[in-house]
Amino acid sequence: MTKTPTVVAVSGSLRAESYTRTALQYVLEAAAEAGAETTLLDLREYDLPVYDPDLEDAEQGDAREVKRLVREADALALGTPVYHGSYSGALKNVHDYCGWDEYEETTVGLLATAGGGSYGSTLEHLRMTVRGVHGWVLPHQVGIRNASSRFVDEPDAIDGRGFADDDLQERVEKLGRKLVEYGFIDPDIPSPRAEADD
Ligand SMILES: Cc1cc2nc3c(=O)[nH]c(=O)nc-3n(C[C@H](O)[C@H](O)[C@H](O)COP(=O)(O)O)c2cc1C
Repeated sequence: MTKTPTVVAVSGSLRAESYTRTALQYVLEAAAEAGAETTLLDLREYDLPVYDPDLEDAEQGDAREVKRLVREADALALGTPVYHGSYSGALKNVHDYCGWDEYEETTVGLLATAGGGSYGSTLEHLRMTVRGVHGWVLPHQVGIRNASSRFVDEPDAIDGRGFADDDLQERVEKLGRKLVEYGFIDPDIPSPRAEADD
């Protein structure tokens, strides 16, 4: 029997009308259609104090639950608004709580939403951060520039928003499919190329 991967999306925007959160829900929808169990970890719903190593567990709000969700995910979609050419403090705070225990052997897909035209440094910063805690970051990533012009009102769509162009929607949904396809990356399984070299 094929195991069902769990895919968790973490949105680094706390904004009520966040484009990042909308896009991540499209990622999750595509992942669900590809066979995953999905969860949106919406940081607005969790009490996650700014990380302080001196805080006792009891003082760390919902940190234990956030870490559990990240640790138990087979694959993670990390989404963030571009803030000052990097990723948001809200998402950095999640990273400061999480480490190898949470990310080891976890497949990670990245998405960034920019008000302007540039998201490259944001995605690179996220990629480096996840690499540092041994997550497996997918080559496929999504950058949404000029975010306010990339969505159109669609009352029946997720958050009442559809994508203004099909190519962007396809990139976003592809991220969801790839997270499922590579949700069980296992470094102990030799690749076909390695076997051919033997
Ligand atoms: C503190 C702050 C810093 C920002 N810095 C940038 C930036 O460096 N480059 C950019 O293109 N947009 C920047 N923006 C705009 C956001 O990236 C943009 O509004 C984004 O779509 C917000 O995502 P959200 O709708 O998910 O909250 C910034 C916004 C804020 C609030």
